[in-house]
Amino acid sequence: VNKICILISLLLSTTLTAESKVLAFAGSTRHDSYNKKLVHEAASIAKQMGAAVTVLDLNDYPIPLYDEDLESTHGMPLNAKRIRDLMIESQAIIIASPEYNASIPAVLKNVIDWASRDEASQSSRAAFKGKKFAIMSASPSPLGGKNALVDLKAIIEAVGGEVVQVQTCIPDAYNAFDAAGHIKDKKIEEQLKNEIKLLEIVQYKS
Ligand SMILES: Cc1cc2nc3c(=O)[nH]c(=O)nc-3n(C[C@H](O)[C@H](O)[C@H](O)COP(=O)(O)O)c2cc1C
Repeated sequence: VNKICILISLLLSTTLTAESKVLAFAGSTRHDSYNKKLVHEAASIAKQMGAAVTVLDLNDYPIPLYDEDLESTHGMPLNAKRIRDLMIESQAIIIASPEYNASIPAVLKNVIDWASRDEASQSSRAAFKGKKFAIMSASPSPLGGKNALVDLKAIIEAVGGEVVQVQTCIPDAYNAFDAAGHIKDKKIEEQLKNEIKLLEIVQYKS
């Protein structure tokens, strides 16, 4: 009985101190990217809600374009494995994507394509299944990158992820952020909070 009690209290203590892990990144490698600003805003909301958040900059993770021959001869590139591992250990993922020609940039699609494979060069849903995705976009155009999100949602769902119902688009991105990188429009900020809430971030206190 004592051993069972110790086991239960050990299990409880690990659960009670656990926080939701969230991974956040923008689908842009541009230095002054609006989507990087947006993803930092979303990440700080998730942190305030109690999540342990990792923000990635895809500039720090250069990955060759997905190629089945490269995969079969060299396996998964190290940076692709790093991102995929971070996705696997996260309960929720935040992606801010630019809109390129009415869809998502190649750099983001490439990350998703590599993440949809495993280290045995097989198709894998481990980086997507059972995870909630908050997707968002910032663009200088009046639509704020809405078209990119239509495609991003379809792609994520095709590989087994769940995209939350609210999606934040920031139009007129040139004027949308203040000098500190914060969203100026309070209504958009509120919508972003509502979107991040849907990730159901859990902070257990012991
Ligand atoms: C190749 C290319 C295609 C683009 N196509 C679109 C588009 O279809 N719709 C749109 O709203 N903006 C489009 N843009 C403008 C981007 O929204 C803008 O460059 C934005 O700042 C990119 O996001 P970032 O600031 O996060 O890098 C395009 C930009 C490039 C370079």
